[in-house]
Parts: sequence; C-alpha cells; structure tokens
Amino acid sequence: MFLAVLTFTAIASALAVPSTELVERQLGSQSANQTILQPVTTKKLTSITFPQSVREKLIWGPFKLSAANGKHNGQLDKGSDTFNTILGGLCSDCYILKADYNIADKEGTRLTLNEGVYLHHAIVMDTSQTQPGMPLTAVCSAKELADGAAALAKGSSNGMASSSGMGMSGHSHSRRSVSSPNTQAMIHQKRQSGAANSFPVPATLITKGNEDKIAYYAAPNSTLKTGFWLGKGQHVATTIDAVNYRNETKDMYFTIDYEYTPFPQGKPKDHLDVAMSIMSSNGCGGLAFHPPKDKSVTYTSNQWDVAIDGYMLNILPHLHDGAVDLQILVNGKSTCRSQAIYTPSADKFDGKQWESITGYTTCDKPIQVKKGDKIFMTSEYDLTKHNLRPTTQDHGEAEGMAVAFFQFARDNKQ
Ligand SMILES: *[C@@H]1O[C@H](CO)[C@@H](O)[C@H](O)[C@H]1NC(C)=O
Ligand SMILES: *[C@@H]1O[C@H](CO)[C@@H](O)[C@H](O)[C@H]1NC(C)=O
Ligand SMILES: *[C@@H]1O[C@H](CO)[C@@H](O)[C@H](O)[C@H]1NC(C)=O
Repeated sequence: MFLAVLTFTAIASALAVPSTELVERQLGSQSANQTILQPVTTKKLTSITFPQSVREKLIWGPFKLSAANGKHNGQLDKGSDTFNTILGGLCSDCYILKADYNIADKEGTRLTLNEGVYLHHAIVMDTSQTQPGMPLTAVCSAKELADGAAALAKGSSNGMASSSGMGMSGHSHSRRSVSSPNTQAMIHQKRQSGAANSFPVPATLITKGNEDKIAYYAAPNSTLKTGFWLGKGQHVATTIDAVNYRNETKDMYFTIDYEYTPFPQGKPKDHLDVAMSIMSSNGCGGLAFHPPKDKSVTYTSNQWDVAIDGYMLNILPHLHDGAVDLQILVNGKSTCRSQAIYTPSADKFDGKQWESITGYTTCDKPIQVKKGDKIFMTSEYDLTKHNLRPTTQDHGEAEGMAVAFFQFARDNKQ
C-alpha cells in the first residue's frame, strides 16, 4: 500500500496545509482553462448500500499510459504518468452517499497489477467548495512541538514517508521521500488553533492509492442524514497518477461507481455536510513507533480536542502489520473499536508465508461529539500474534503506525 502521498494529500487537504504541491496544483486548476471531460459510458445500476438512492457508474478516458520503458510525466514517481482533468457527468444538486473510485479498462473493470498497472494515487476534489477547518485539534506540549519541528527539519524517518508497501513487494518503485507531512500539518494546525482555515483547500472527495477503499459520506443504516454535496457550479478536479509496469502503452480509464440522492429543489436543510478528516496516534510528531517483539503493547495518542459539534463517521484505520486494533475514546469511553483483518499473502518472504492486513472491521454508528470533548486514540500491536511487514530493502522490519481517517459531519445547528 502506498501511503506517503496518500496521507500527504489526505492530511494536506483535511488540515488545510499550504505549500503542498498537489493541493496547489489542484487549486491552480480552478483558474486554469481546462475542458470538462465527459464520461464515455454512464451505467445505471441498483443501489446496494442505500436502497433509496440512485446508483451510477461513470467511465472516463482513455488516459494513455506510456510504456514502462518510455517517457513519463509523473511528478512523484519517475515511472508514473499523471493526468489532471475536470470530470463531467456527475450528478449536480445531489448528496453523494458512497463512491468507489478506480482505474479500469474500457468496460469499467478495475485494473490491477495483474494487468501491470498500479494506481499511485488519485485525488478527486470539488474546487467550487472549500474544505472546512479541522474538527479536532492536537493538544501538544511545547517540547512535543519542538521535537516535531526538529524531526521535520531533519527530514527524519517518518512512518508514512518511509513505508514501502508489503503488498507491493517486487513491484515497488522509486519514490521521492516526503518530509513528515503529519508533523507539519499538525504543527501548522496547532498554530491555527483548530477550526479556522487560513488557506482555502478544495473540498476533497477522495485521496487514495492502489488499495481497495470505498468512500462513505453517510453511515449505512443510520438515521443521521449526511453526504457530500455537489452543487450546480461543481468543478470536479481530478489527478490520476498511475504506473505501467509493461513495455507497451496502455489505455487506462477512470471510474466512479456511486450512490447519491438528487435534490432538484436545492440543498435540503436536514442534511449535514461531511468533510474528510484524520487523526493519528501522534498528532504532535512523527508517526512511526517500534512495538516490542515479545508482548502486546497498546499505544495511546496525544489528546485531541473537539473544536466543532458534529459526528465522526465511517472511521477507517490505517494500521501496519502487527496491529490488532484501533480504538477511539471520547471522554474516556470507547466509542469505536476497529479490528485489523489479516489474510495470508500470496508471496512468501524468506521462505515464510506472511499475513498482511487486508481490511478492518467497521464502526457502524456515527459518533456524536461536542466542542470541548477530549478524544484519545489507542492501538494495540502484538508481534507475538502478527509479524511486522519485512521491508523490501534490507529485510529489516517496518515500523508500526496508527492513523484513522473519517468523515466529519458538522452540526449545522450550533
Ligand atoms: C479556454 O476555453 C475556451 C472555451 O472552451 C476556449 O475557446 C479557449 O481557447 C480556451 N483558452 C485556453 C488558453 O485554453
Ligand atoms: C522493458 O524494457 C526495458 C528497457 O527497454 C528492458 O530492460 C526490460 O527487460 C523490458 N521488460 C520486459 C518485461 O520486456
Ligand atoms: C443495513 O441493514 C440491513 C437490514 O438489517 C442489513 O441487511 C444490511 O446488511 C445493513 N447494511 C449495512 C451496510 O450495514
């Protein structure tokens, strides 16, 4: 799994960090005179998760990937090709409830490494709206902030930046090292004292890498009405960056399979808007930690203060192999426990079969939080049960990490 860029952009967009080239590029595209790319195919499908909603699958393309041994224009990976476009054909005056974003062939079937293609990252933003401020503020001591800044200045090993992707071993490709975005983001955010945005970042629909990750903007089976609003003036700027491992050009398509509720009369008052957000086990400094080999250990994050009334929903952890679970505690009470699901990997490593995290159990219910609530995140790692991922470079072991992505629905009534 590729995390540096994914997290980089996720954090950047979620926390409104300036000076990130990707976000700037997206912002730039707002004024750029780009033509809107219409889908080549629009299929009506039956809604699965939200039975009352409309489901469609749109396919855009082709995007021509150069041959592996050809010339590439990727900004973050020398073997990748980057495409920036504005996607047309999506609903307008609608709340998106769920969406699955993938690279695909002409028929809309997902492309994977079996076809020699790897999605380095995809970022989809509506540049007609800005991302609201962060709902959570990391509470950090002066020392923690100083340590974080020092780590950042040194460009020191940061969990996200240095992770190289077990599932991808043998397919790993060179990456520019990214200095700790987390630290930078959090420090920045701390200085921003939480909720206020000094820098407009477009509302983000998704940032993802090659992993299987469906975005939920509403909690399935919940009475809480939320969604990602797309209005008439939408401008869905999209960056797709993919790697072709074969020595022949490849036609790649981009698909969005999504469920939405149309509101032709305009935005309804009883729905809450969601925004992508994130918290980590260390909002004050580096992300990586090194669990002991012989026993279970539970990491507890710094304190996070809630800055805005609302709901945390669809919490999606990112843990490394070795992890057991991730929990979110609000005012000392566990409100979500998501467990890592392990599957034996196809590849053996040093003759051993490895198990890797392939998914997480979900926390179904939205978690209501109020301004001033105190949140902690814990994560148990147990290396006697699960191995750390071996790194591809030196057969050493990767580090542990605990991050939770979630959608935050702001309460309009406050
Ligand atoms: C901008 O868009 C308009 C309308 O599509 C087109 O006529 C014009 O040539 C474009 N300008 C640039 C600089 O691309
Ligand atoms: C692709 O091309 C490169 C250089 O042109 C060559 O070294 C490599 O073996 C080729 N790979 C395949 C699978 O043909
Ligand atoms: C929603 O509830 C229905 C009926 O109880 C159940 O079958 C379905 O699996 C639930 N959906 C999700 C996504 O939890």
